[in-house]
Amino acid sequence: MTNVRDGLQLRYLRRMVKTPAGRAFLLNQLADAESNGENQVFEAVLSNVDDPALQKMIEKHRADEVRHAQLYHEAAVRQGVPLEPVPAHLKLIDRLDRAVGGFLTQPITGARGVMEAYVMLQVIEERATSQFTLLERAFREVDPQTADVVASICADEERHLLYCHAISKRYAPDEATRLETLHRYRELEARCFAENSEALMQHTQARGYFSGGPLVKWFWRNLQALGRRQGLPYTAYFAAAQAA
Ligand SMILES: [Fe+2]
Ligand SMILES: [Fe+2]
Repeated sequence: MTNVRDGLQLRYLRRMVKTPAGRAFLLNQLADAESNGENQVFEAVLSNVDDPALQKMIEKHRADEVRHAQLYHEAAVRQGVPLEPVPAHLKLIDRLDRAVGGFLTQPITGARGVMEAYVMLQVIEERATSQFTLLERAFREVDPQTADVVASICADEERHLLYCHAISKRYAPDEATRLETLHRYRELEARCFAENSEALMQHTQARGYFSGGPLVKWFWRNLQALGRRQGLPYTAYFAAAQAA
């Protein structure tokens, strides 16, 4: 089921993936996001977790993210155009790190620190699965090989959500605190995602990945108007939590 916002985003992605340059830009950005500092979080969490079963989950999670970065990088290279470094202002994880006061860079100590880190990873995974579902559909029509890569990564991210639930619950002082943290981080992430999306749209238009005539202008106006009308771009996980 695709809502209005997702439908517009899918249209945006379909335009982006029409050209090798657009595909390479998207995939390179994903490769960068997958390798963007989370490794430090896994290291820091591991030093605070002594349950062998949970340690195994964290090790697997870390290995998956390293592999995802490689898979997205290879898919970007396959497009056959030069790759450029991702501009700093388009990095969602960095934006989130600044907004929360440095979850990537601050030391993680104690049970609460582990819970907060894994709730943050949970909201990142929630966004990833939501985005990758749309991305797979966009790629399916023009580059089925990459669509298969996105689908396999998306399945991993869904498994990571189970790790996030297990570890954040295990280290939460109580369920109310975990839920309050989850709600707060989802809001923070949705704000960062909205800002990053706007910056991304401006960048891709300026670089000509997404140029066009009246239809594009119409699309751009609608997306901005929709964003303002509908409030923050929460994922379906937030809506499901509200309905529960
Ligand atoms: Fe990943
Ligand atoms: Fe993940």
